[in-house]
Amino acid sequence: MRALVTGGAGFIGSSLVDILIAEDYEVVVVDDLSTGKKQNLNQKAQFYSMDLRDKELRRVFKDKVDVVFHYAAQARVRVSLEDPMFDAGVNINGAVNLLEASKGEVDKIVYASSGGAVYGEPEYLPVDENHRIAPLSPYGVSKYIVEEYLRVYQGIYGLPYAALRYGNVYGPRQDPYGEAGVIAIFTNKMLRGENPVINGDGEQTRDFIYVSDAVEAGVRAAVKKATGPINIATGVETSVNEIYRVIKKVTGSDVEAVYGPAIKGEVNRIFLDVQRAEKALGWKAKVGLEEGIERFVEYLK
Ligand SMILES: NC(=O)c1ccc[n+]([C@@H]2O[C@H](COP(=O)([O-])OP(=O)(O)OC[C@H]3O[C@@H](n4cnc5c(N)ncnc54)[C@H](O)[C@@H]3O)[C@@H](O)[C@H]2O)c1
Repeated sequence: MRALVTGGAGFIGSSLVDILIAEDYEVVVVDDLSTGKKQNLNQKAQFYSMDLRDKELRRVFKDKVDVVFHYAAQARVRVSLEDPMFDAGVNINGAVNLLEASKGEVDKIVYASSGGAVYGEPEYLPVDENHRIAPLSPYGVSKYIVEEYLRVYQGIYGLPYAALRYGNVYGPRQDPYGEAGVIAIFTNKMLRGENPVINGDGEQTRDFIYVSDAVEAGVRAAVKKATGPINIATGVETSVNEIYRVIKKVTGSDVEAVYGPAIKGEVNRIFLDVQRAEKALGWKAKVGLEEGIERFVEYLK
């Protein structure tokens, strides 16, 4: 099997490339290295340093590509608020360019969507795939619009897709200096003896999933018949205060958290119903929060 991974130099995409290569896939990566890093790139992958929006993208398909994993994106909520045109350009136009190059050429597209961003503030918990869509940011809109393009391309061109609506992914290669990724930011700070800043009262909740589980779901989605949206998370609700307590325990840190103002445009509580993933992909997250944080601390050390 020959796979194209867009965003294969990024946090999640590069882990996906590693597992695909370990499973004997031939892997091609397209990445413009805007947030991804060359050192994340698996040496065995063929690399195209290219913008998703480039008309030359078709060149990548000159040798047969069986499956496309679309993991490249402008992935930061704050950037989407500051520059929604840029966000839409990369996430929507980039995806359409990829779909145009993929139609009639590949057997399946696996898309990294966002369970944290497309549903908005939940009407009920846990949130399943039938929950209404109401993103709170341009990023959430652009991530969701691509799901609609995928649905249309499946209908018109018979191009099957799975849109994996991920929870909050954490683990090795995540940027600990970014604006998002509370586990990476807190762990990095606490290992350095700095105080982590909790935005709001810390009782806001998320569904945190370890990166190895997240990419395993991608591999399953490529070979299973399932199409449409699928939540990929743990189904466990964890508050930011709880994250702080677990990191404190695992690192043995004695630094205290500092409380700051809440961030606007973020959901208050969310965790995802993962029954569809279990039924359709035979997939379930294996790594619990404490174990995931232990592994991440080891990696950072
Ligand atoms: N991290 C999470 O918790 C999370 C949750 C839900 C969904 N996602 C989605 O998963 C995917 C990967 O996210 P990540 O956290 O690994 O972020 P990341 O920024 O590490 O990865 C994105 C990759 O895409 C590349 N890229 C960006 N713009 C590009 C362009 N125009 N052309 C080619 N390559 C480009 C970047 O260089 C980077 O390697 C994204 O689609 C993101 O929306 C992430």
